[in-house]
Amino acid sequence: MTSFQDFNLADALTRALKEENYTTPTPIQAQTIPIALQGRDVVGIAQTGTGKTASFALPILHRLLENRIKPQPKTARVLVLSPTRELSGQILDSFNTYGRHIRLSSALAIGGVPMGRQVRAVMPGLEVLVATPGRLLDLVQGNALKLSHVEFLVLDEADRMLDMGFINDIRKIVAKLPIKRQTLFFSATMPKDIAELADAMLRDPARVAVTPVSSTVERIAQRVIQVDHSAKPNLLAQLLKQEPVNRALVFTRTKHGADKVVKSLEKAGIPAQAIHGNKSQNHRERTLAAFRTGEIRTLVATDIAARGIDVDGVSHVVNFDLPNVPETYVHRIGRTARAGAEGVAISLVAGPDEMSYLRDIERLIKVSLPREDRRTPGHREAAAPPAKPQQHRGGRPGMQNARANEGGNAAKGPRRRRRSNAKVPALPGNRQEPQRPSQGGGKAGSIQGVAFLHREGRPKNHAQNRNQRPN
Ligand SMILES: Nc1ncnc2c1ncn2[C@@H]1O[C@H](COP(=O)(O)OP(=O)(O)OP(=O)(O)O)[C@@H](O)[C@H]1O
Ligand SMILES: [Mg+2]
Repeated sequence: MTSFQDFNLADALTRALKEENYTTPTPIQAQTIPIALQGRDVVGIAQTGTGKTASFALPILHRLLENRIKPQPKTARVLVLSPTRELSGQILDSFNTYGRHIRLSSALAIGGVPMGRQVRAVMPGLEVLVATPGRLLDLVQGNALKLSHVEFLVLDEADRMLDMGFINDIRKIVAKLPIKRQTLFFSATMPKDIAELADAMLRDPARVAVTPVSSTVERIAQRVIQVDHSAKPNLLAQLLKQEPVNRALVFTRTKHGADKVVKSLEKAGIPAQAIHGNKSQNHRERTLAAFRTGEIRTLVATDIAARGIDVDGVSHVVNFDLPNVPETYVHRIGRTARAGAEGVAISLVAGPDEMSYLRDIERLIKVSLPREDRRTPGHREAAAPPAKPQQHRGGRPGMQNARANEGGNAAKGPRRRRRSNAKVPALPGNRQEPQRPSQGGGKAGSIQGVAFLHREGRPKNHAQNRNQRPN
């Protein structure tokens, strides 16, 4: 598949793609769009930043157009669910971008903003509704919305939607949907236990994994710095000054931690802003919009920004704290090196807990990350055995209470931990991963399945769309 023309998509869609400078389908698009166009259920797994959104949005829009009926009042033909308000807004923007020539009726149903406007938006009936599960159920329970006419269901970040934080809400929602529907699940990660849960909601799905599940994008130069806890704030400031940062996204485990990091960066003369669940939705939207435009260059976030968020020009992701769910690492670092770009991911690791999270991460992504030891001598013996620093660039190839998480409370809630398991041999800390064959070697060319995105430039109105999101 070399061109979007080969899909025979409606002209209005092809035109929008041209305007977006999409010339070549990415591997996940090439493999899933034709199947989804036939009406089959799909589970699509592909690395971060490789165009999964268009993989579901384009075939759905095409199929809507093939049978353009007027939606019944208080119903939606397409229901897309995602774990965060910001991601839902972004997905809606993508539908509106690809559907800009078809006068699409679409709306967003997310928490943290008044319901009245959403109630009014769904009243006449919609073609596309993008939602977070909690607010969607509120609308249903308030009789503002019926799910009986949904023809297409998408779970973006499907493994997250089916983990224990969201599964109860998702079950309630799915129980209200027609049995006859097309269901599309997408993510970069899919733990086995979750994949089994997914099966109950799918009908004879096509399973497409263009790269190994949970693999990280090769163009991300990943590295680990072992450091004392107390030295993390200074080291972060130092790194942000030394590194050629265009835009940096710093992840912390807690909301409080994010605020503390902002303060310490400001003290060091680095302007930064935080985004997390204790901030108002208005503030969250404004801050993310300012990060998109480049007005804010350092954004400190909890995991509400870990999944799906697509911001141009994020050159650096820093894990100020390591996540204890290894898949989260894959998603966090995937905020850089998107759409064929390059990126750097640096993880600050302190103490035995974070060392054990690191081992879980390395086991998941099947890469041993290069480590640098900046701990003071007194602290070294206490932690796990030091590993030799190594030259490895990038590599092989990313749970909490959901309603709270929709509210952005991502740092709280139950934690799923994949502990070292005797049956699975640990990756020796100092092992050099075998080099993977590279095809082409160019910036956007890579091994099978890894994105080969070719786009001359990002159209200006794309970013603007996102900033003009309602609420
Ligand atoms: N065929 C294409 N050509 C050029 N650019 C593309 C193409 N498909 C998608 N893109 C762009 O690539 C970027 C990443 O796409 P998208 O957000 O859909 O990735 P994703 O696979 O969903 O990543 P994540 O796993 O992080 O959610 C977006 O800016 C999108 O506009
Ligand atoms: Mg995505």
